[in-house]
Amino acid sequence: MILLAIETSCDETAAAVLSGRRSVLAEAVYSQIAEHSPYGGVVPDIAARKHLERLPGILEGVVAEAGVGWGGLDAVAVTHGPGLAGALLVGMAAARGLALALSLPLVAVNHLEAHLYSLELGEGGRPLEELCPLAALIVSGGHTVMALVRAPGEYELLGRTLDDAAGEALDKAAKLLGCGYPGGPAIERIGASGNPAAVKFPRGMAGGDGSCDFSFSGLKTALLYHLKKNPGDASPERLPDMAASFQEAVVDTLVRRLEQAAERENVQTVAMAGGVSINKRLRLKAGEMAARKGLRLLSAPPRYCGDNAAMVAAAALAGRGIRGDAALALDAAPALPWP
Ligand code: KG4
Ligand code: ZN
Repeated sequence: MILLAIETSCDETAAAVLSGRRSVLAEAVYSQIAEHSPYGGVVPDIAARKHLERLPGILEGVVAEAGVGWGGLDAVAVTHGPGLAGALLVGMAAARGLALALSLPLVAVNHLEAHLYSLELGEGGRPLEELCPLAALIVSGGHTVMALVRAPGEYELLGRTLDDAAGEALDKAAKLLGCGYPGGPAIERIGASGNPAAVKFPRGMAGGDGSCDFSFSGLKTALLYHLKKNPGDASPERLPDMAASFQEAVVDTLVRRLEQAAERENVQTVAMAGGVSINKRLRLKAGEMAARKGLRLLSAPPRYCGDNAAMVAAAALAGRGIRGDAALALDAAPALPWP
């Protein structure tokens, strides 16, 4: 089964052709960071316009590189939510058009579930059903979700953020510290030479220890007040300590929740995916926790942490998503929840 997948939910224009769940024949991700960074965040109208400009060339490119031609495709998949409405619509219109013109089945995939399927990709990746049951943390700029994955499609939402996503908190902190966009990589880079214990920022454990919910807006406010009270800490010399300490609070929160989820649900495997899961400090601390607890830790391969279309293809090829006429009739679902 050769499938073309399209992902345009936020600020990456991406397409991929897979032959079976884990064989990537061709893929492309065009990041719009340069277009959005002058504004310090993603501008929805610009995102949609850039998808419109870039997607046709990207589709031609991956189909040519895959060496199968338009006639060699067996199906088309696309993200239908959650994400930015205008951005989603560009990918969905393209996917629907191709499916109708080429008489191919269309599969509409949930972006959060696609992040889960990024665990299958890369060297050593295995089908999800062989990895279950597991507690999965999907952590990105728009989402922070903890889910129990009993089997593919058999999920239980254990927790989610009540306000900001983890990546969003990093993006906002970077803005406050004046260290660039997107915030996650900037904080990681600048914090690498800082002391993570310099300032003890609050850990956002919404709902107490029994819960797997998150809350990151208080952390951002704590940084704001800290800088007001200690203006010297906004100086370039103190920046590494601030970045390292803020990152530590985010990482600590995520790792503690992962540990609690594994304990509560009595699973031996924990997993992380999404844009923030590329963070080296998070991987290190999660790895230490897993070793201490005797858990198996699975992390999405770094190249598939951020938004990409290979993960959308993997989910569709695993049988997930909405199919047939129902998929053709779907509207974009900007607030689509975890499935
Ligand atoms: O999955 P993704 O590409 O898009 C969404 O679905 O949101 O995630 C983007 C998020 C941004 O908030 C960005 O700051 C964060 O991932 N991020 C990182 C790192 N690289 C990207 N966070 C921490 N450390 C990083 N190295
Ligand atoms: Zn994402």
